[in-house]
Formats: sequence, C-alpha cells, structure tokens
Amino acid sequence: MLTTVIYRSHIADDVPISILPGMVGKASALNASHHVTGILLFNGTHFFQILEGPEEGVLAVYERIRADRRHHNIVELMRDYAPSRRFGNAGMELFDLRDHDRASLLQAVLDRGTSRYRLTYDDRGLQFLRTFVEAREKENYFEVPPAGSWDFIPDRTGENDLQPAGHGVVFHPVIDPLGRKVTALEAVPVDRPDEQVSEPGVHIADLNAVRRVLVQAGKTCPEHLPVYVSLLPMTLVAVPDAVRILIEEIRQAALVPEQIIIGLSETQVIPDVDAFSAAVRQLKASGIGLSIDNFGDGSAGLSVLTRIQPDRIRIDSAIIRDIHLSGPRQAVVQSIIRCCSALEITVIAAGIACAEEWMWLEAAGVINFQGSLFTANGTAVAWPEYREAG
Ligand SMILES: Cc1cc2nc3c(=O)[nH]c(=O)nc-3n(C[C@H](O)[C@H](O)[C@H](O)COP(=O)(O)O)c2cc1C
Repeated sequence: MLTTVIYRSHIADDVPISILPGMVGKASALNASHHVTGILLFNGTHFFQILEGPEEGVLAVYERIRADRRHHNIVELMRDYAPSRRFGNAGMELFDLRDHDRASLLQAVLDRGTSRYRLTYDDRGLQFLRTFVEAREKENYFEVPPAGSWDFIPDRTGENDLQPAGHGVVFHPVIDPLGRKVTALEAVPVDRPDEQVSEPGVHIADLNAVRRVLVQAGKTCPEHLPVYVSLLPMTLVAVPDAVRILIEEIRQAALVPEQIIIGLSETQVIPDVDAFSAAVRQLKASGIGLSIDNFGDGSAGLSVLTRIQPDRIRIDSAIIRDIHLSGPRQAVVQSIIRCCSALEITVIAAGIACAEEWMWLEAAGVINFQGSLFTANGTAVAWPEYREAG
C-alpha cells in the first residue's frame, strides 16, 4: 500500500549546509532502491520531508533518517496512506526555500509534484507542506535540547524524601521540576480492588481502600500539601452515602476536605451520568477537589469538561509517551492544555519517563509532573540541573 511519512526536523548546529547536495545524491539512490520517492524542503534551519512508497521501504528509510545526527528534534507529522504519489519524480529532491521568491514559493514547490489534484481536495499531506512553506506553525515548534543536557540530582535536604511504602499505601509526588517543589502527593493503595470483580463488591472494596489510604495520609502528609486519592467513578454512586463516608474519614484522619483531591479515571464508563453528577456536586460542595485522571484515554474526551469541571486533570501517560517525536500527540496535548487553561484547570502530566518528554511539555506550558524521571533512585525527588555546554 502506498504509504506516506512526513516529518520535520532541525539541522544540527555543526553541520555545514554545503554537505546537503552530496547527502541528497546518496539518499536519492537509496530511496530509489526501496521504490521511495519524495521531496526534502529546507528553510535554513528546518527540514521538512515527504517520503512516499511501499510501507516497508518508507519505514526502512525513515528509520535511517531518524538515526542521523545531522539533524535533531525530528517530529513525525503524518503517517498515512494515499492513492498516488504527490512527489513521484525523484528518489529524493532537495528544495531550498531560500532560493525562491516568497510570492511564488508554494507554487514552485507544487510544480515539482506529480499529484493530479494538488490542493484541490484538501489533501492532508499537501496541507502540511503548505503550512511549512508558509511558516504558519512555527510557534508550535518546541525545540528540546538533547536528553543528556540535564542531570537529575536527588534532593539532599531531607525535605523531599520519597515516603517509604507502609501500611499498604505508597506515596507518589507530583512535582514542579523547575520550581523545585513537590506540589501534591498521590496516595495509592498497594492492593487496588480488581475492577473486573462484580458489583457492588468492587465499589465497597474501592471505598475501603480509599479509607485506608486517608488514614495513612493523615499520619504522613504535611498539612500544606494537597493529597490525591483515586476512586472508581461509579463508587460514588454505587455505595450509598459514599461522599458522606469520605468526608467523615477525612475528618477522622485529621485532614481537611480542601486538601483532598479525588481522582476519577476517565477510562471508566459512567452508566448513570445524572447520579454521578449529583455525587460530584456533593463532593465539591464539601470542599473536596476533583481530578479527571487518564485524561484522553477514555470515551468521553474533551466533552467531559462541558459536563463536569474538575479542578485538575491528569493526562494519560499513553498520550505523553515520546511526545517530542509525534506531531499527532503534540496536537492533542496542546488542545487539552489550551482548553484547561481557558477553564483554569491545572494540568498534570503523568508517567514521564524521559527528559525530552518533560522538556517538551514544559515548553508547552505544563508545570506539574509525575513519573520515574524524577523518582528513579527511590529515596528522594531528583531535580533537573542543566549541564553547561562543553
Ligand atoms: C534531513 C535529512 C534527510 C534525509 N533523507 C534521506 C532519504 O530520503 N533517504 C536516505 O536514504 N537517506 C536520507 N538521509 C540520510 C540518511 O540519514 C543516511 O545517512 C543515509 O540513508 C545513508 O545511510 P548510512 O548513513 O547508514 O550509510 C537524510 C538525512 C537527513 C539529515
């Protein structure tokens, strides 16, 4: 099947532009051997390349290109299928945008093409090309330095030690890495009830697990820190008086409702939305905060924010994984961030495993993070420190 991969990248600082024609000659021959064609645009800083051909060939070429140190911040913008090649003339042709007049630039690029319908029918591939040629998306190019630019140094003050697991509860910090602050603690029961167990047993077990967590949080968590606890959404409905029981438990644990944030997973289907909304109102009226967790991974999507307005959302780690490499993930997360900013909802990015993910999200405006990148040594939060070049 005719496959298209489109990516954008940034030329490496130490690469002289004079090497490009030689590189293109070799690349063109290699592409031809895979039946891959395409075009490479260059604007003096960024590359934009369309690769088209049989899926196996395109992916093999793209893998080699991704490993090439002569460019970085490689973001895959599109991977799709098409009926015909848009640029079928050459294995690979270099088009330097700086050599052309601005007014006729797009036309000059399109003239290299072989696509019959060009921009007539809003072809996505060509729309990406137009956006690059017209430099319309530049504010969204968050260039992240290589992962090795940061050291993660465990905090030695003793103030940000990770709490050891005890009494069936583990505490995961939510942190603001650049502000060097822990901004909340997530308290997680070690033995979460199995969601597959039939109702109502699973909801009673869920509420009991949260009660145990609250007791421990009351003993361990500093007063000034918000405490996160997760609950299955329908527990609020299925267990009679669940909200009242929670409030009572919070009081007995010497915590205050305003300190507690209940995290409800968006992945859970909510069969009785009216009863659920009523329970949420009760929660909020008592001062307890609400977070929608695993945001973006469930069925509800952004529309959930038109019905329930949480104080926080936690973006699912599945969307964040390798976000620095993926245009579609970046677009989805940017729309979530914009939407939450308009609604004054705090965004937390969970499951951060590598420095590039964290840096991209910081550049996009996220402040609160969770993940092994900041807790890898298991004893204290590790703060990022920028390494001086050289
Ligand atoms: C911006 C850019 C675009 C490239 N495009 C291609 C390409 O379309 N096809 C290709 O075979 N190599 C391309 N290369 C070069 C490859 O990364 C790689 O050097 C080349 O395939 C030769 O493989 P080798 O280095 O393993 O010998 C490109 C490199 C850069 C920096």
